[in-house]
Amino acid sequence: MDLSTRAVDLRELMDDPDCDPATLDRTFRRFAVVNAAVSGWRSVWRTHVVPALPAAGRARVLDLGCGGGDLARSLTRWASSDGFDLEVVGVDPDPRAIAAAERHRTTGVTFRTESSADLVAAGQRFDVVVSNHVLHHLDDAERAAFLHDSAELATARSVHSDIRRSRAAYRLYALGSPLVSAGTFIREDGLRSIRRSFTQPELAAVLPRGWRAEAVAPHRVLAVRG
Ligand SMILES: C[S@@+](CC[C@H](N)C(=O)[O-])C[C@H]1O[C@@H](n2cnc3c(N)ncnc32)[C@H](O)[C@@H]1O
Repeated sequence: MDLSTRAVDLRELMDDPDCDPATLDRTFRRFAVVNAAVSGWRSVWRTHVVPALPAAGRARVLDLGCGGGDLARSLTRWASSDGFDLEVVGVDPDPRAIAAAERHRTTGVTFRTESSADLVAAGQRFDVVVSNHVLHHLDDAERAAFLHDSAELATARSVHSDIRRSRAAYRLYALGSPLVSAGTFIREDGLRSIRRSFTQPELAAVLPRGWRAEAVAPHRVLAVRG
């Protein structure tokens, strides 16, 4: 497998509007297991989100492209164990994602079928804006619009986390994903996602002024503003 350049023309199965709805629903819900294993958000919460939250009062965090909603739910759980009063809003323009997210109601989290552009148009503001596995999904124009919207929506910080492309990440995922992928698009789309994802220098090269690309372990990259 050639991983020397981004496979930008590779499409993920879940991005086919005619993909099997039951498989897609299982995929959105199973993301919780995959994200817990690979995304490293517990540590990003401590290092990048907590320091940007207001010292007192209710904080608001937005999860853009929330998919099945597991990151939004985890953020409220970590906030409550770390003593923060946190409201989390998860949005995704795909109603099938929000239907999967709303299966598990969690106090402090609301889900809405909206895009980043809808929130900007509505004049919404949040202390911190986050996303997981959205950047690699977008083409150049979509990514530029998404980062522009994120900067408009965040008063303190934006943190967008994604896979960092490497041979090791590809090999590990190829070995581990069959354990959790039955009945979902998770194995094939995960491998395609790794091929579409950025190295740290590649991400740094496409980020607008004011953003920085950070490599974090294991196999992750962050686009951070603020
Ligand atoms: C691969 S999924 C990631 C889902 C979830 N964050 C996770 O990690 O499991 C990418 C999601 O981003 C959403 N998305 C794409 N563009 C968006 C935008 N401009 N605003 C909000 N969500 C967007 C898509 O609808 C899709 O559900």
